Amino acid sequence: MSPEDTKRQLEANNLFPPDIPGDASAIAEARKQAILDAEPIGSVPVPGSVKGMVKTSFQKVMGKNPEILIDKLAERLAFERTGVRLYDGVLAKIAALGSVPGPTDIQPVIQQFRDQEYQHFVLLVEALEKLGADPTAQTPCADLAGVSAEGLMKIITDPRTNLAQTLNALLIAEAADNAGWELLIELAREAGQDQMVEDFGVALEEENEHMGTIKEFLKHATVADLL
Ligand SMILES: [Fe+2]
Ligand SMILES: [Fe+2]
Repeated sequence: MSPEDTKRQLEANNLFPPDIPGDASAIAEARKQAILDAEPIGSVPVPGSVKGMVKTSFQKVMGKNPEILIDKLAERLAFERTGVRLYDGVLAKIAALGSVPGPTDIQPVIQQFRDQEYQHFVLLVEALEKLGADPTAQTPCADLAGVSAEGLMKIITDPRTNLAQTLNALLIAEAADNAGWELLIELAREAGQDQMVEDFGVALEEENEHMGTIKEFLKHATVADLL
């Protein structure tokens, strides 16, 4: 917008070239080398009860790689725990800014969803304990679930964001949540964990409702900002 500053910026580009000459291929090569040299992000502590099983019965109970199911259970656990905190952040926003204009008071609905996220968290603690696994273990995927939600947490707890911006972040979490439960149910089915398939199916139904409802609330909040 400012021709004089644009000119000075372009001059600065010539005055201060990159420290290392060349194009982006050097960094692409450096990235490739770093990936090839890297250790995995962590490992899954497999419970002794699973380790002790002979291979045949072990395959029947948990699949060839029981740590995959444990890792993904721990991932959902971490995500649901973060989900409770995200909803707490949204509740704080509503308390300060008021509800979204529209047919529904969103506060009690948000509170109910928050409590359901907590119930899902407890469900996963129980599922891991049933397998003899440690629900407090920070598995690789649990670690990554925390990292991936960091940006959403920042948006939702930022005092400057309005309700529409807050709900937009929450919708991203709910979309990931939905896909996560679908995958987990598939894994539990493959591993022959029928009780988990049943329990997780109920959680997925609730998550579907969360996603659809938050989408609707976001629409109302954004339209209200527009008009
Ligand atoms: Fe959830
Ligand atoms: Fe949810």
